[in-house]
Amino acid sequence: MKCLLKNVYYVDGFMDEAGKGDILIDGDSISEIGDHIGTSEDTDVIDCNFNKAIIPGLVNAHTHAAMTLLRGLGEEKPLKEWLEERIWPVEAKLTPQDIYWGTALALMEMASMGVTGFADMYFEMEEVGEAALKFGVRCALSKGIIGTKESDIEKALRLFEYFKDQKLVNVQVGPHAPYTVPIDMYKKLCHMAKEKNIGVHTHFMEAAWERDYLKEKYDMVPVEFLENSGLLSVPLALLAHCVWIEKDEMEKVAVPSVKVAHNPSSNLKLGSGIAPLKDYLKKGVSVCLGTDGAASNNRLDVWEEMRLAALLHKGNELDPTCCKSKEVLKMATFNGARALGFDKVGRIQKSWKADLVVVDLDKPHYVGVEPSNLVQYLVYAGSSSDVVGTMVNGRWIYYYGSYSYKDVEEIKREAKKSRERICS
Ligand code: NI
Repeated sequence: MKCLLKNVYYVDGFMDEAGKGDILIDGDSISEIGDHIGTSEDTDVIDCNFNKAIIPGLVNAHTHAAMTLLRGLGEEKPLKEWLEERIWPVEAKLTPQDIYWGTALALMEMASMGVTGFADMYFEMEEVGEAALKFGVRCALSKGIIGTKESDIEKALRLFEYFKDQKLVNVQVGPHAPYTVPIDMYKKLCHMAKEKNIGVHTHFMEAAWERDYLKEKYDMVPVEFLENSGLLSVPLALLAHCVWIEKDEMEKVAVPSVKVAHNPSSNLKLGSGIAPLKDYLKKGVSVCLGTDGAASNNRLDVWEEMRLAALLHKGNELDPTCCKSKEVLKMATFNGARALGFDKVGRIQKSWKADLVVVDLDKPHYVGVEPSNLVQYLVYAGSSSDVVGTMVNGRWIYYYGSYSYKDVEEIKREAKKSRERICS
């Protein structure tokens, strides 16, 4: 089956301007972009009359999807207290089924907002993967590891084996953070990641006290920890947050294997600080965007992270020229897909995977949009409520309020039951 999106604006491969014309999707990929593309009998034609924009699929590069069940718990507490007193005790009650329904609930939200891929760190990751496969969403899964249990290394290996034949699923290794996982465990996990040629997803320098912790415990600054733990020699290191990296340390993270997931909403809500995004971009660090879990955001809205990333640093740095809309859109799409370990995903380009979003331009706040300013309109004026269609690997997972997932009402019912039980 082919699908022709006719008469659309589309974001070009440089995330710079819009092209105008038709996009033909054949199977899982974009097969042609041009004017007046011909059709055959097996082509589903959607004429968009130049009032729709096609953008690459958005990627939520750091989240804990099933935390939708914990949304609103322990509001307005410091990170450590929030985790230890409010989140971890409730998480201890979660069953594999809870994780399935909590993840499915997150995917319902995210699919309607144009998210085509997500990097998830949690537990019972087989359930997370099953929910993602049922939704048809791309993902990178890492079992969150705390402490030094050898059995966790085996579990991570099993997860890798379980999903290794799934095209939409990549498995990564997930040590939670340097303050919950000793450096020797990091070394073992990084060694395993290298052997299996997979990525490592970890929280890193989210709060200021983590720098003091490393100094006291290991006499190391953060980049020395990266070097000594093995994180700089794995095929891909996805570092969530990186709020507290000093300017003179950034060279070390400006390497192709390191991906920094910037989570502006979560960092603001938990009072963690403001990541030095302007300097990261200047130094060539590969930055992607994440929402973090729904208990620390509380939205799973990548559009909002884009807008915030584009605004926050201008104000903080007193520089309206930094963190440009095209850079931010690239972070939310192409860079995110790379951070999940996928190639040829994240651009509207011939032969690339058909992960894309249909944005309704027939709205008052898009009057005045044209190819040269589309990207700015999307980032500054647009929002997730403009999304009308979300396609992953050539398949619609969301289209005008309907999901390809068979029974979304059941998701809400079951998630509500889980929530009531874990909070009782
Ligand atoms: Ni997180």
